[in-house]
Amino acid sequence: MERYCSVTLDYGSKSLVFKSEAGINLHKALLLNHSGISSPCGGKGTCGKCKVVVSGELSPPTEIEKSKLTRQELDAGVRLACQAVLTGDVKIRIKDEKSAFIQIDGLPYKVGISPVSQRIQIHLPGTSLTNCPDDVKRLRDGLQRDHLKISRSLMAKISNLLNEREQDILATVTEDELADINIFAEQTPDYGFAVDIGTTTIVGYLVNLITGEIEDTVSELNEQAAFGADVLSRISYGKENAEGNRVLHDKIVSQLGHMLKKTVERKGLAKDAICGISVAGNTIMMHFLMGLNPFRISVAPFTPVFTSSYFCRGEEIGLAYHPRCPVYILPSIAGYVGADIVAGMLVCSLLDPTRTQLLVDIGTNGEMALSREGAVLCCSVAAGPAFEGAGIRWGVGGIDGAIDSVDLKDGTLKIHTLSDKKPIGICGSGLLDAVSIMVQNGIIDEGGRFAEPCEWSPEAAGLWDRMQEINGEKVFVLTGPGCLPEETIFLCQQDIREVQLAKAAVHAGITTLLNNQGTTPEQVDAVWLAGGFGNKLRKESAVNIGLLPKELAPKIRFAGNTSGVGAVMALLSKDCRDKCDIIKTKARYLELSALAGFNDTFIESIGFEA
Ligand code: FES
Repeated sequence: MERYCSVTLDYGSKSLVFKSEAGINLHKALLLNHSGISSPCGGKGTCGKCKVVVSGELSPPTEIEKSKLTRQELDAGVRLACQAVLTGDVKIRIKDEKSAFIQIDGLPYKVGISPVSQRIQIHLPGTSLTNCPDDVKRLRDGLQRDHLKISRSLMAKISNLLNEREQDILATVTEDELADINIFAEQTPDYGFAVDIGTTTIVGYLVNLITGEIEDTVSELNEQAAFGADVLSRISYGKENAEGNRVLHDKIVSQLGHMLKKTVERKGLAKDAICGISVAGNTIMMHFLMGLNPFRISVAPFTPVFTSSYFCRGEEIGLAYHPRCPVYILPSIAGYVGADIVAGMLVCSLLDPTRTQLLVDIGTNGEMALSREGAVLCCSVAAGPAFEGAGIRWGVGGIDGAIDSVDLKDGTLKIHTLSDKKPIGICGSGLLDAVSIMVQNGIIDEGGRFAEPCEWSPEAAGLWDRMQEINGEKVFVLTGPGCLPEETIFLCQQDIREVQLAKAAVHAGITTLLNNQGTTPEQVDAVWLAGGFGNKLRKESAVNIGLLPKELAPKIRFAGNTSGVGAVMALLSKDCRDKCDIIKTKARYLELSALAGFNDTFIESIGFEA
């Protein structure tokens, strides 16, 4: 007989209780009860990030937990949720990571307005025995569009809404379809919702379709993160669990609906005022949104189901909150160069034939595109999760308390944390700064190994006491003296290796694009860094560690959330939607794993240059 346990979740400010079957691990119990926690490896026991503090009845710590957790953590009741199996009632303390820093802003945009869809007010004359056209004809005549498509489900609505008397109607119309009709009540502006679905975060922009202005933004962590931090973990969750892909699809669509509802209510709008949605994101997120199985993108030859732009209505993707709303999905280029990069190319005008430009978006994958004389070459490299905080012993995302910058001034190491909170870990930008300082001052050598203090620069001489041994391992401590052992944040040799692999992948990708386009770094007019990480990093640190070729340093510009701004532009303008299709047609994708010589370029990029 199944036994049930009581699980109490203590979030500090609130608590929640649910019943769960005994014998399953905490990670699964939390997922089943819609209380996902950070689990970058998707519950495989490799990332060590699903830490929870638990009291109550659980299986004893596994070997994996003993290797991932310190003695002090184990003594304090810290467990890995994906390893600890429920044997009785428990109480779990969870750190709320909702206050993450999410990139919302981007480059300013200016477009002509011809939105994905708009509402048109029409007056329908009444019918009589001598003049009785059918309702569909009356609507088409009223809109002066003889061939407008009208779905069966909309005809069902029409059959209940129209009558033989005169009526004023508000029709939501796309380029070729009547998407919805309602009885006209009052004249209010049309709005649209542009969405950037990132693997880590989702940002939605409420856009006034008359003025073109963004009137509200709503941003949240992607709730799919509970199934893995990166797209590959989520694909494997979808493959290994019956209904896994459906669960991931439901998560993304319900979160989209919930975010839309949030902004609609906040602005006091009627739901029907939202007459169009545009969505950009990586190819795998677009597959999950559409309810498609993305598995083949994860194995050679990395084939997506679709990459073209796609129009549908909300109901087709299961958007229960607004089923009749037209939805436009931007085109992608390949399995690992998605609609987010197409949006970025649109925002940064990569098709401009007069300029040579490079767009780089660094996340778990580093995606990049190089344009020259209007021809675009793009590729994607597996940068690994280091810059997103995973795979690094004390790595965290951009959350309160994350060390986001590190400086060495007058021989003193200074750290800064997000929201000036007590340090709880280090995020990508802080990691880059720390490694840059270590490279510049000889604390690590060209091969990435910790050097002997006698080889350090005089500027770093005062940091010798930061080289310590913790749990039998040589580490460089970032937090100041006086920290409790369990709060001492450090970088170990393996962390440096992870950074090396990530930076080498990005550097090699850029070098390969330049070589294949016959372009030198000097010929590049602008380098656009897109995305949350790109926006926070310091140019000097990125160049010092060799993430970007040093000749490009003076040309670096921060472009912000180009995926979000591109989605806004596509929502507003037919010209921009057409440009997205042109970008898709013109961009040539370079599959690096099939390219002779890429491995050599990667290996050449792996060392550090002081
Ligand atoms: S170790 Fe538990 S989710 Fe990664």
